Parts: sequence; structure tokens; C-alpha cells
Amino acid sequence: MASSLIASASVSTSRAAISPRWPRAAPAAAAASVPSSSRSSCPPLRASQERALRSRIVASAAPAKRPPTLSRVSTVVDVHLSDRSYPIYIGPGILDEPELLQRHVIGKRVLVVTNTTVAPLYLEKVTWALTYQNPNVSVESVVLPDGEKYKDMDTLMKVFDKAIESRLDRRCTFVALGGGVIGDMCGYAASSFLRGVNFIQIPTTLMAQVDSSVGGKTGLNHPLGKNLIGAFYQPQCVLIDTETLNTLPDRELASGVAEVVKLGLVRDAPFFEWQEKNMAAILARYWARFETDISV
Ligand SMILES: NC(=O)c1ccc[n+]([C@@H]2O[C@H](COP(=O)([O-])OP(=O)(O)OC[C@H]3O[C@@H](n4cnc5c(N)ncnc54)[C@H](O)[C@@H]3O)[C@@H](O)[C@H]2O)c1
Repeated sequence: MASSLIASASVSTSRAAISPRWPRAAPAAAAASVPSSSRSSCPPLRASQERALRSRIVASAAPAKRPPTLSRVSTVVDVHLSDRSYPIYIGPGILDEPELLQRHVIGKRVLVVTNTTVAPLYLEKVTWALTYQNPNVSVESVVLPDGEKYKDMDTLMKVFDKAIESRLDRRCTFVALGGGVIGDMCGYAASSFLRGVNFIQIPTTLMAQVDSSVGGKTGLNHPLGKNLIGAFYQPQCVLIDTETLNTLPDRELASGVAEVVKLGLVRDAPFFEWQEKNMAAILARYWARFETDISV
């Protein structure tokens, strides 16, 4: 299914620092669905007692804090960065699990940053997930114009305007809901608002799910060049609901698939071979067939 594709690509993106945790409920099925090299646990970047402990937890596939009994999370990829370590949750329909998102919110104020295309599709759902049985949390949102040409300082100011007008303090959380453009803008805003606030990524394009939401790079364009202004800033978590891919235009899906193919070619031959066998199902978004037919 889509989760396998994204998790394998995420591991390929930053193999030295991240390790996947495959589903606890059906390990045999999961093992059959991905190339074996993508299942191996990756060593952390630097050795420290704390990180060694975290690695052991990952290796033993210990349950997360409060595992929902019927969780739709099919994969958790742990990114090991000492005190900035964070999980990437992947699965179909995981935006319907409010607990998953809420456990990473700090404070009682949330600012969702999204755009005019994604807001009508997912803003209501994300607001529900943030507030369900959680009356103390209030959610503001800022809806930016859609497009790479808006990844600039003028548009960034709209995020700061909203945050300041809403009197958000340092104990607030910024949530990026959208593709790579929104992730880059919201991440950079989170890194600099009040010298840094809590940040959650909900990437909704395949490109953002396999690439831009992983690694902590944020930034915007300057008239003289792309991505010239930015910062490295890690989120508290990345939440990838693979069902958001169902509304993605074909062209955007293909753009993300191209990134996945590149990762396979450069770093992971078995993953690349697996893609070759499943490309028709991937492009057709035929996730059910994709899940059962994968063999490497
Ligand atoms: N920070 C990094 O490490 C990194 C890495 C790679 C790319 N990037 C950046 O990412 C950006 C490209 O990201 P992108 O390809 O996601 O483009 P994008 O963010 O512009 O999204 C593409 C289009 O899809 C729409 N969209 C998003 N989710 C949707 C959904 N679920 N359903 C329907 N429509 C949806 C968007 O509104 C937009 O029109 C570039 O600015 C690039 O510089 C950053």
C-alpha cells in the first residue's frame, strides 16, 4: 500500500538517521510488502546513551506512548536526532485519529498554515482532529495563496500577522497542512516566530511526504534565487495520511513518484526493482492491489 512506498522512500532519503517500525498487528504481511533492505533498522547518527535507548526501543518495536487499539498507523519511522528526535506516522486515514495529532501539540493554541487548494479539502478535518474531546485547545488558521511564486517574504508575513494578531505565545504549535511549499513556509515561520515554536508537519503531496517533510529543511525564495532563506528546524512529528493522495492531481502524483524513483536508483536497488514491478499500480493509485501484489 501507499504507506510502504512512502516509508521506504523516507528511509532512502536519510538512511543514516532514521529507522522504520513496521506494523505490530500483522508483521508477516508487512514484511512481505516491502523490499528487505528497506526494513533494516538504521544506526543513529551519533552514539549517546539516550539515543542508544531509543534505538533499542525501536528495534524491539515497543508500543508508542498510548497505542490506539485499532490504529490505522501502518508504519512509524523514527528520525534519530538526539533531543530533536521525532516520529513519522504513516497510514491511510490517520487524520481520523485525533489522539495521534493531539499528543504532539504543545500548549493550548494552534495555528494551521495551509493554502487555498488544500484548505477546502482538509482544514476542517485537521481542526476536528486537533479539538476532538479537547475543548481547551483553540485553533486559528491562515490560508495562503497557492503556488511556488508565493513562497516568499510577503506571504510569510501573513503567517506572522496572523500569529501576532491572535496573540500566540511561545507555547503554541504551528501545523503545516499542504505540500512542500506550505511545509517550507510554515517550518521557517515556526523556526523564527518568537525565536522558535512547536511545529507539526501534515504533508499532503507525495513529494512532501517522501522528501520535503523529512530532514528539517525549511525555507523560502528570494527574487535572486530559490530557497535562499531558510533554517534547519525539526518538527515534533510528521503525520502522513496516505488518503490525502487520492485528491492529488495526476501531475503532482507523478512529480512525487519521480522523486521516489530517484531515491531507489541512487540508494536502494531492491526498492527500485520493487517500484518497477508496481509502477502501474502506484500511478493508478491502486493501493489495494499494490498491497497484495508486491513481491521482490
Ligand atoms: N525542504 C525540503 O527539504 C524540500 C525538499 C524538496 C522540495 N522542497 C520544496 O517543496 C516545494 C514543492 O513541493 P510540492 O511538490 O509538494 O508542491 P506544492 O506544495 O506546490 O503542491 C503542489 C500542488 O498540489 C496541491 N496540493 C497539495 N496537496 C494536495 C492534495 N492532497 N490534494 C490536492 N491538491 C493538493 C497544492 O496546493 C499545489 O497546488 C518546492 O518549493 C520545493 O523547493 C523542499
